[in-house]
Amino acid sequence: MPYYRSVGEIPPKRHTQFNNPDGGLFAEELMGEEGFSFDSSLLYHKYLPTALQAIEPVDIEDQELTPNHPLKPRHFRTHQLKAGGDPVTSRHTVLANGDVRISYFTGSEDSPLVKNAVGDELVYVEAGSGTLESTFGTVPFTSGDYVIIPASTIHRWVIDDAEEPMRALIVESTGHIGPPRRYLSRNGQFLERSPYCERDQHGPNEPLEVEGEDVDVLVKTKTGITRFVYKNHPFDVVGWDGCLYPYTFSIHDFEPITGRVHQPPPVHQTFEAPNVVVCSFVPRLFDYHPKAIPAPYNHANVDSDEVIFYVDGSFMSRKGSGIEAGSISLHPAGHTHGPQPGSVEASLGAEATEELAVMIDTFRPLELGPGGRDAEEDDYAWTWLGGR
Ligand SMILES: [Fe+2]
Repeated sequence: MPYYRSVGEIPPKRHTQFNNPDGGLFAEELMGEEGFSFDSSLLYHKYLPTALQAIEPVDIEDQELTPNHPLKPRHFRTHQLKAGGDPVTSRHTVLANGDVRISYFTGSEDSPLVKNAVGDELVYVEAGSGTLESTFGTVPFTSGDYVIIPASTIHRWVIDDAEEPMRALIVESTGHIGPPRRYLSRNGQFLERSPYCERDQHGPNEPLEVEGEDVDVLVKTKTGITRFVYKNHPFDVVGWDGCLYPYTFSIHDFEPITGRVHQPPPVHQTFEAPNVVVCSFVPRLFDYHPKAIPAPYNHANVDSDEVIFYVDGSFMSRKGSGIEAGSISLHPAGHTHGPQPGSVEASLGAEATEELAVMIDTFRPLELGPGGRDAEEDDYAWTWLGGR
């Protein structure tokens, strides 16, 4: 949940007459979550946001999921997935379950307008830069940014015309994505002990006010994708206020919490969603007890599947396993995993790490999507052999 924001022109009192320059009224739209009982924003449109001219079904490729059976830890090399296309229609589903879809994208094309009516999206930008345009205005993004898009926000991705394509890890929730509740006061302000705060969240600063007619918007629902053709451009908003809007948060603004001995993964938590947590592993000083072991201990995640997307750094704990930048590891519930044989001893005396990684834990088992099947490294399960 971001903080209250007011952008562009709005009337002094909500639900009152707000005249446009022609003497008519701007069209007020309430966008609210959980049936008028959670975060919301009020938007003021030049034209009716309800005026549809056509509705058509859209054919999409089969996204068949296969269970992780027999149970295996897995390694996917995302940089081997086919590049090209745009961040909305060219995503490769790597892993998914009833709560979340984790996909990967590499490409340079701008996306069509889209509205994900299923849930919030979190996009971690591994490389490239551009602008997210939406009914709320624009939000620039660059590598290291998490871009959080509330459910049902009409938006599109505009990628900078650079030599480097955009690379992104995409988390589609079936609910709402926000900071962990324990980071917030009763009234929703970030507490002193949280590893980031409001100043690190960057939302739109001004409305877009785009004019246009006959505008296609892809609408994602649990039953498929529908094309809405709006009479007027949905980016016609002159102002809005509220606590619901897209924003960015850079992983480089996450302030790591360290200690004398190894700190558990929840200190790295950055976001939560129903049955899903997202953590950021950032460059940090290692533990400072004189006999500390900087490498993590072996661990059995009894209630969760653990996914790590490796972005940068040496990934000391898995050195020698084949993990590299762009790798995704899946360490499922039922499997005890840990550092590479020899990593514990090699880590003794190390003072800092430069690793950068995003972890996604799910509380229900993940299944493999087409991208996962295409990018899997077959022999990962045996990479812990070679120790004593
Ligand atoms: Fe782990």
